[in-house]
Amino acid sequence: MKISDGIFSVGAIDWDLKTFHGYSTPYGTTYNAYLIKGEKNILIDTVKHYCADEFISNISKVLPVDRIDYVICNHAEMDHSGLINYILSRSNATLICSSKCKDNLQKHFHKDYQKIINVEHGQELKIGNNTFKFFHTPMVHWPESMATYLIERKILFPNDAFGQHIANSKLYVDEIGLEIVLREAQKYYANIVNPYGNAVQKVLEALNDLPVEIIAPSHGMIWRRKQDIEKIIQKYSMWAANKPGNEIIIVYETMWGSTKKMAEECFLKAVEKNYPVKMFNLEVKDISDVVAEMPDAKMILFGSSILHGQILPRMAGLLTYLTGLRFTNRKAWTFGSYGWSKPAFERFETMVKSAGFEFPGSGYYVQFVPDESTLKHLVDIFSEKILD
Ligand code: FEO
Repeated sequence: MKISDGIFSVGAIDWDLKTFHGYSTPYGTTYNAYLIKGEKNILIDTVKHYCADEFISNISKVLPVDRIDYVICNHAEMDHSGLINYILSRSNATLICSSKCKDNLQKHFHKDYQKIINVEHGQELKIGNNTFKFFHTPMVHWPESMATYLIERKILFPNDAFGQHIANSKLYVDEIGLEIVLREAQKYYANIVNPYGNAVQKVLEALNDLPVEIIAPSHGMIWRRKQDIEKIIQKYSMWAANKPGNEIIIVYETMWGSTKKMAEECFLKAVEKNYPVKMFNLEVKDISDVVAEMPDAKMILFGSSILHGQILPRMAGLLTYLTGLRFTNRKAWTFGSYGWSKPAFERFETMVKSAGFEFPGSGYYVQFVPDESTLKHLVDIFSEKILD
């Protein structure tokens, strides 16, 4: 599909994708690739290997694959590099990427890339009637990540940055609604990019003076309206600062309902005191959906039952995941129910602290089933010592 004169979106729509390495993708995703037709024909990125038919068909509607002269690789991760070798083997194209990207491609595909231009950060390159400027964006979100800017058209191709996992036949954010795209962009940022806030800030600074009329990411919808571009840049700037929001998140996993009851009592108290609060049961909610809420959180309550002397496995998985994602600057508290292994909660608290949360004092735990007075005690402590 044409996005501008001589510039086409030729990627693939993955309607069926349900998880992206553990990140739930209920709306599927796209692997966006862009073909620029001109004196020289330039392909920016490719798609996941199993989308080959759709990708090649889309390219072929614009020009035969063997007429591609250059392939720009912004990122070696295989959802974008999966068909680079296919294109290179069926054309006489030159690969354009950073030297780090070349290294990473070689370590993925075990191929020696001879016909290659290694581009430096800030380098401009005129190819036919188009001029590109390359911005190395290390750790947004891989070491070799790069953004490509098409100077004459003021189009930024930032690869994963500003992306969202949304499969849609439409191309643009404004065609499906800013709100849903921002929600998915936040989920994407929280689950993929959050550990690299400092790197994101540097990228935003580098892009600050760049006139951008279109941001064409490698997943999801394209940003073209001025107000939408400003909004997503403002959101990235805010998320990169990793500052807490104003919400309380209660997330729990329960065996026989005791921990659930404790979660609900805390939830009701927070509502009564007019705090914005959300509650998630890990039995039915994916951890990546909980993580999507983290940028808006100021405090997280983690609740778990104890099984085999350990917290429940989904909660342990969430905490391991959060340890990597580094949502600092937020408070946390723990609660739960146990049978005979109370020391397990010491490990629970250690895990929460290791995930980078501030932990004010010890959590609140009950043996087996809480009665009315125990629940009141829990809520009193939550209300007086934790909430205020
Ligand atoms: Fe969409 Fe980092 O790959």
